Amino acid sequence: MIDKHAVARCFSKAATSYDQHAILQRLSSDILLQYLPHSVNDRAYNTTVDLGCGSGALLPVLAKCSKQLIAVDLSFGMLAHAQAHHQLTIPTYWLNGDAEALPLPSNSIDLCVSNLALQWCDDLAVPLIEVSRCLKPGGLMLFSTLVAGSLDELTLSWSTVNAHRHVNRFLSEGEIKAALLKSGLSVEIFHVEIQTMYYSSVKEVMHSLKGIGANLVHDKNSKPTTRGELRAFKANYETLRGNQGLLPLSYKLAYCLLCKR
Ligand SMILES: C[S@@+](CC[C@H](N)C(=O)[O-])C[C@H]1O[C@@H](n2cnc3c(N)ncnc32)[C@H](O)[C@@H]1O
Repeated sequence: MIDKHAVARCFSKAATSYDQHAILQRLSSDILLQYLPHSVNDRAYNTTVDLGCGSGALLPVLAKCSKQLIAVDLSFGMLAHAQAHHQLTIPTYWLNGDAEALPLPSNSIDLCVSNLALQWCDDLAVPLIEVSRCLKPGGLMLFSTLVAGSLDELTLSWSTVNAHRHVNRFLSEGEIKAALLKSGLSVEIFHVEIQTMYYSSVKEVMHSLKGIGANLVHDKNSKPTTRGELRAFKANYETLRGNQGLLPLSYKLAYCLLCKR
């Protein structure tokens, strides 16, 4: 079970350093927004929700295509950071809330966008059913999430060190498709692709995870990692150094556009 308080705390702690490490998030949101059916310069949506808005990087773009915005995040620290750093030209409401129990009325929103936030929910179908409840008929849900196969370099490097869980479990493509089906929303787009990031040291790899709050591992065995285990992990990771002299870290991303018929 995901500890929501721990997730919120972890992201609140990462709020000030988040943007400088969120390279994958920006790559992902650029791809995600290409799937919006209307040009971002048309104010095609009355009410748009950014679900798991984090530091608010998507808000200026969403403000261009919407008449009002609702920024929702589980982490109060992230939400406060987003509010302090974005001066938006349309009415914007800031809600400290959970994607699994949206503090929004039914049939009230036209578009919900969520970039790399829903992998923090135990059961993807739950937030999708919530979004479906809140969407007006014809409304759209556009989201990206991580798929099993993400961070495999970490899993591989830890595998011979000890049997503890060091990497979060991500849903398989099949499990994601099953959640989409359960939501009752119609699937307009489902696309999966791999993004590999490169780092010069294992320290940088770990730092990138910490900066974006992704260092929090659910169900982690509480036994602390010893120095020797850490050394063995680093030595294993070093064997993955490629021709360019860099260490890879791969993310498998799913992009989905859903519609409430
Ligand atoms: C990796 S960040 C992505 C932030 C932002 N969407 C972006 O593209 O930069 C994930 C965000 O989801 C939020 N989050 C995690 N679980 C959530 C939940 N159940 N409900 C709402 N927000 C959640 C976290 O607090 C965090 O700010």
